[in-house]
Amino acid sequence: MKKMTQAFQKVAAIRGMNDILPGDGARWEKFEELVRGWLHGYGYRNLRTPVLEHTRLFARGIGEVTDIVEKEMYTFTDALNGDSLTMRPEMTAGVVRAAIEHNLLYDRPQRVYSIGPVFRHERPQRGRYRQFHQIDVEALGFAGPDVDAELIVMLARLWKLLGLTDIRLELNSLGQASERAAHRAALIEHLERHRDILDDDGQRRMYSNPLRVLDTKNPAMQEMADSAPRLFDFLGDESRAHFDGLCQLLADAGIEYRLNPRLVRGLDYYNLTVFEWVTDRLGAQGTVCGGGRYDGLVELLGGKPAPAVGFAIGMERLLDLWQQVCPSASASAPECDVYVVHQGDQAQRAAARVGEQLRDAGLSVIVHAGSSGFKSQFKRADASGARVAVILGTDELAAGAASVKFLRADAAGEGSQQQVPLDQLADVLKSKG
Ligand code: HAM
Repeated sequence: MKKMTQAFQKVAAIRGMNDILPGDGARWEKFEELVRGWLHGYGYRNLRTPVLEHTRLFARGIGEVTDIVEKEMYTFTDALNGDSLTMRPEMTAGVVRAAIEHNLLYDRPQRVYSIGPVFRHERPQRGRYRQFHQIDVEALGFAGPDVDAELIVMLARLWKLLGLTDIRLELNSLGQASERAAHRAALIEHLERHRDILDDDGQRRMYSNPLRVLDTKNPAMQEMADSAPRLFDFLGDESRAHFDGLCQLLADAGIEYRLNPRLVRGLDYYNLTVFEWVTDRLGAQGTVCGGGRYDGLVELLGGKPAPAVGFAIGMERLLDLWQQVCPSASASAPECDVYVVHQGDQAQRAAARVGEQLRDAGLSVIVHAGSSGFKSQFKRADASGARVAVILGTDELAAGAASVKFLRADAAGEGSQQQVPLDQLADVLKSKG
């Protein structure tokens, strides 16, 4: 009798959380390798923090009244002890927590970076995902503005390394909290004076988030928005000096930027310098990198006061841009250099040994797994992108040799085949690389 089994309903990935398949994985790896070299070039060291943190870290660090904390966090209760935990929606708060917890700043400042997934419950679309990846870079314990400039120059170098040109810098200064408070009061006064032309959103936000009211697309409110008091005019001497210093250093480095007084960023920890790198090539989600100074965060999270500045790059967005602008540079690599095909039990055992030998010599090798005809093995060899097939059959074994067949037009003589004694195989393959 036929056994009845209940069909298992296929399980798909969670919406907005993407698999990175092997074809793309190679591109990600190439990109990450390049990025690590770039970061080490500026003395940044790797710091890895957990994906899960206590919810209160983000609530305090990012700010209770931000979109991220109010609406976008994956938060749950730990069933064992009732703690409220959150999947990190960004990395800065965790990095600062780790620096405080391990006393990293006690005798010197630190340049650190983290690469990994972050989670935000946003409405998914191109360039906006619920799990995405960031390259997060933090300079802890530096008052700037030299380090602010260094970070921006460093990013310009990365764009150059990747061959990206359609990417521009937007810059602003948020001043200090007291300056923002004075500006806010003036802004609310301005909104109150124009109360009769504010739409519903404007009325609703005028006290809770007056800056957002200026972001309106409503044409009837445009003139009011344009004539609103600008934060820039409320900056004190020190804040201005910091900003001027940064602009001077950027000019020295030949870096162009647009001063954008509306650039406020979505996280509460910033002061003074804020910046974003933006492109028009990615549709609505064109911000590839965002960052700024957060001099109050270390103290806010319980550490000894220390200034800091940093940024995060959205990897999906940057890879998308890289793929568009330089499809060949970002093309995926072959699976291996050498594909070993074999026929018969003896040859299969020899193939395993030859594979290890070639790997000892630094080659990347796939030994055909399982037993199938030469024809289908060669098909696989071809599909792997290998430069060379190494053939082990009865004749080769009897001669203590392998046949070597070049598979690519760019390798020494495509299609040519020659027998090579096994003990010379690695040298021959490497010399014809
Ligand atoms: P952020 O602007 O929230 O800043 O995020 C940084 C970058 O992550 C964005 O510019 C964007 O490229 C990417 N990104 C943000 N949300 C998504 C999403 N839903 N899907 C795909 N990519 C996204 C921060 O996270 C700060 N911690 C940066 C920082 C570090 N500031 C100082 N240090």
